[in-house]
Amino acid sequence: MQNTEKDIVRAGEILCGGGLVAIPTETVYGLAANALDGSAVAKIFAAKGRPQDNPLIVHISELSQWKELVREIPPMAMALAQAYWPGPLTIILPKSGIIPDEVSAGLETVAVRFPSMRTTRRIIDAAGVPLAAPSANLSGSPSPTCARHTMEDMRGRIDAVLDGGECNFGVESTVVTLATEIPRLLRPGAVTPEELREVLGEIEIDDAVMGRLREGVKAASPGMKYKHYSPKAEITIVRGTLEEFIRYVSRAGESSQTFALCFDGEESEIPLECVTYGRSDDSLTQSHRLFTALRELDEKGAKKVYARCPSTEGVGMAVYNRLLRAAGFSVIDAKTIRIS
Ligand code: TXA
Ligand code: MG
Repeated sequence: MQNTEKDIVRAGEILCGGGLVAIPTETVYGLAANALDGSAVAKIFAAKGRPQDNPLIVHISELSQWKELVREIPPMAMALAQAYWPGPLTIILPKSGIIPDEVSAGLETVAVRFPSMRTTRRIIDAAGVPLAAPSANLSGSPSPTCARHTMEDMRGRIDAVLDGGECNFGVESTVVTLATEIPRLLRPGAVTPEELREVLGEIEIDDAVMGRLREGVKAASPGMKYKHYSPKAEITIVRGTLEEFIRYVSRAGESSQTFALCFDGEESEIPLECVTYGRSDDSLTQSHRLFTALRELDEKGAKKVYARCPSTEGVGMAVYNRLLRAAGFSVIDAKTIRIS
């Protein structure tokens, strides 16, 4: 389906009737179902192969739809919504009685997002109900940022894909919970920790954001404990300057299936086949490209990948968080490794 009025109306009908439609948003493509219909939502888990204990985000097209989904909207939550909605931010609060257990996966809270992409909001309006939508990838693979990638993962599993072009941000929304005493960042995204602090004051950053969750620790955001965003290739993030990276991979890169995941313009200097993921000084171009680059590495048959390490400032925290998971937490420091 395309981004036409007719197709949007049709998507709305399918969704309203309990079907599944993959839809574009400004972050990544989502796999949508009527959020108030538990059996429709259950089909999302089956189509994605998603673990049952991983809750979904509910998408709204008007601020006024929020209040029926949550127990109450505290002033801090409203201030946050006014600052960054519509946009790539998901806010978690204690849920109201109308949220089916399938959406919240047994938790007492619900995650809500008001997306900024006009097409997304038109689809929600056409459905006439809030839409539960996780990223439209098979569980474990990189989130799709265009209709083609969505189709690769979802063909034969869902009722339709609505093509709205390439996603603007390319990584999933920032997830923050206000159901804790101190607001807590569960997943970094295009709304940065600094931007959250401007409205909320103090925030905590969940341990799972920048590292691996320790054995035995309960995940605040269940999605963070699963292996994620991972292409078939084995990825190692190499910390250091471009020179140090080149020196390291020159010794380590042994076969034709070894690739570099580097920044734009670095290809000519790196002695490996390269896939690029944005400008070294621009986290937004990196977030826009990262998941596509991970899929390209698979298409090219990469077995081993050395990745340039992104900055972790601002939106860079989201880029690093996704790349770290794609790499299965494998990071080395080119400076400290002595190659003799
Ligand atoms: O940008 C996005 O957020 C995209 C688009 C489609 O909107 N959606 C998305 O959904 O990324 P998903 O399901 O792939 O990621 C949702 C994350 C998961 O890590 C999940 O565990 C967490 O949010 N989450 C959802 N509800 C939660 C809750 N009540 N408490 C804690 N974490 C929650
Ligand atoms: Mg996802």
